[in-house]
Amino acid sequence: MKRSRCVQDDPADERFCVGCRSPARRTVLKVGLGLGVGLWWSGSASTQEVDPRAARPREDDRFVLAGRGRSGGAVGVADVPLGDPPVTAYPMDPATGMVRDQSRLNQVLLIHLDPTELGAETRTHAAEGIVAYSAICTHTGCDSWEWQAQTRTIKCPCHFSTFDVRDGARVLDGPAPRRLPALPLKVIDGVLAAAGGFSSRPGFQQ
Ligand code: FES
Repeated sequence: MKRSRCVQDDPADERFCVGCRSPARRTVLKVGLGLGVGLWWSGSASTQEVDPRAARPREDDRFVLAGRGRSGGAVGVADVPLGDPPVTAYPMDPATGMVRDQSRLNQVLLIHLDPTELGAETRTHAAEGIVAYSAICTHTGCDSWEWQAQTRTIKCPCHFSTFDVRDGARVLDGPAPRRLPALPLKVIDGVLAAAGGFSSRPGFQQ
């Protein structure tokens, strides 16, 4: 199973994690408390402005598998088998092939479900039964997941929040304060593409 990471592992996302005990974390925490979370968010926005590789996914972006980069090719419907554990991917600019992997907040989980199982709202942002959600837990930002096939839920192993992927990734259990942001999808020539941006801000906020 993939290691759970503190958000400080990502140089593009300067924020803090309650699970991290490093001196650097305490320094950042003091700054965050002193200046407020508004500054925390504007820092991320400026990162996106200077580096398009950290910009959030946008309409028509394709996807590549996390860890494979563009050499693995764009993720197609066939690459996300029905009922399998989530596939972790990053968005890619279709015009330039630039992968937006300089912010871990851009990681998405692609999950293929029977379309008849999806809630009405979830169906509107799914494509051929495939849904996409932010891979960053809304509690304190872990990005490892356990797939629970029987219940079509994903569980964060850090503090055991559970999300229902058939119903907009709403929180079923655990300390997560809100659902995972959804990324609407469409299919172009058998390849998955974003149909818009995240439904809400990915990440967490203390
Ligand atoms: S990070 Fe705490 S439940 Fe996911």
